[in-house]
Amino acid sequence: MAIVIFDHPLILDKLTRMRKVETSSKDFRENLNEIGMLMVYEIFRDVKLKEISINTPTFKNAKGYKIDTPVVLVPIIRAGLGMVDGIQKIIPTAKIAHVGLYRDETTMQPVEYYAKAPADIGSSYTLVVDPMLATGGSAVMAIDIIKRKGAKNIKFVGLVGVQEGIDAIKKAHPDVDIYLACKDPVLNKKGYIEPGLGDAGDRIFGTK
Ligand code: PRP
Ligand code: URA
Repeated sequence: MAIVIFDHPLILDKLTRMRKVETSSKDFRENLNEIGMLMVYEIFRDVKLKEISINTPTFKNAKGYKIDTPVVLVPIIRAGLGMVDGIQKIIPTAKIAHVGLYRDETTMQPVEYYAKAPADIGSSYTLVVDPMLATGGSAVMAIDIIKRKGAKNIKFVGLVGVQEGIDAIKKAHPDVDIYLACKDPVLNKKGYIEPGLGDAGDRIFGTK
């Protein structure tokens, strides 16, 4: 299992904009999509390529490359949806599986309300995306759900996470690589990450 914390200057600059309480939903969404795009650019460094032969305007049978594995993105609804457009910009063929979960505000346990995945998820490179990895309950449940649907090659891609969430995934799904833009120090009593960026779903969709 790999755990990668990006801490990249371009990403940290954008993330700081997102954290600010005065940032609008529009700017929040734009930066979230851009960070998703930058992270996936790097995550895909080790993806399998197939060699193909192509003709260019000046040369026949030139060597070219094609990504050989189908890609499935699994946004955890709602907040994960905010990363889909950016990632699909650079992987336009990616299919989308949806997993709908919300955290019960008193127990902090995730509750499932929707799950749908493409039939070929078992042979796909599967990225579970959600900006926030707090207790890790939602990520663990989303991975449980897509594993039941056949997913095997799974990575979790998040923006801000804490050690507790990382440990929860590590324990339940040691086969899943974890990629985070940044690791924050602490979860508060209400299960929110501090300094964090607040409720990601509300900030993306303007619901508060
Ligand atoms: C948020 C976030 C994650 C989850 C993380 O979703 O988008 O899915 O909390 O917390 P956890 O690691 O403790 O499970 P929320 O339940 O607020 O739903 P929403 O995206 O619909 O707002
Ligand atoms: N979910 C969020 O949206 N934000 C947090 O800080 C924790 C969970």
